[in-house]
Amino acid sequence: MKGVLICGGKGTRLYPLTKTVNKQLMPVYNKPLVHYPLATLIKAGIKEIMIVSGAEHADQFLQHFGNNDEFADIRFEFAVQKEPGGIAQALGLARYFVGDDKCVAILGDNIYEDDFSKDVEAFKNQDQGAKIFIKEVPDPRRFGCPEISHDGTICRIIEKPEIPPSRYCVTGLYMYDNKVWDVIEHLKPSGRGELEITDVNNHYVYSGTMTYGEVKGAWIDAGTFDSLLKANIWAAQKNSVNVADILTQLEDGL
Ligand code: DAU
Repeated sequence: MKGVLICGGKGTRLYPLTKTVNKQLMPVYNKPLVHYPLATLIKAGIKEIMIVSGAEHADQFLQHFGNNDEFADIRFEFAVQKEPGGIAQALGLARYFVGDDKCVAILGDNIYEDDFSKDVEAFKNQDQGAKIFIKEVPDPRRFGCPEISHDGTICRIIEKPEIPPSRYCVTGLYMYDNKVWDVIEHLKPSGRGELEITDVNNHYVYSGTMTYGEVKGAWIDAGTFDSLLKANIWAAQKNSVNVADILTQLEDGL
């Protein structure tokens, strides 16, 4: 199974930080943000990965990953999204890289504590369909939200709804069979002019071939100032930094 790491977009919610540097290269404690979703793919057993980025920052990704001993056993390929036409458009650029295989796509600003290796193995043996991963969050309106019926199946996904149907959101990790390319090819741009990953997912939902899992442990979409700060605190704690001590020092003016 091939991996697609989706790192385009303008990152406008992080302006002016992202005016010259790609969002996915922002620091999260001791690593660039993109290392976390990349680690999620690698932990899940994926060894062939296409990184999709925007034209302005493609050289940064090439420099960072093109000759990086830390990832010596990973085969990287790179694609450039000319304009930020949506996550589904970015994924569509991986069509010929993925070929006849299935793929797992991950958003470059999503951090997961969970291990998806068993899901990847199970998906490899699945005949057809797609799989998404949901998480209960305090602010589902920021995300794509699943409407879950009484029998536990997802009956539709709504992108950033005013009134979320539940406290769950759809996170940025997606597994697709080979039909995804035709689905993307026939998508129409949304009201905000983008090819929406939620429309791709709804295609699978409506055809009865979408499954889902629930994310265990921490999950952070680090695309806003507050969530990027949260990601930094989470990663610092994972590196045994005593964040409470730092906060106490700040309170004491130190
Ligand atoms: O984080 C999960 C959420 O991600 C989902 O719940 C939503 O359904 C999904 O639409 C997405 O929402 P966001 O508002 O967080 O998407 P954002 O515009 O921040 O883009 C997410 C990633 O995709 C980001 O790392 C940049 C990349 N991207 C985005 C666009 C619009 C591209 O590579 N190309 C693009 O054209």
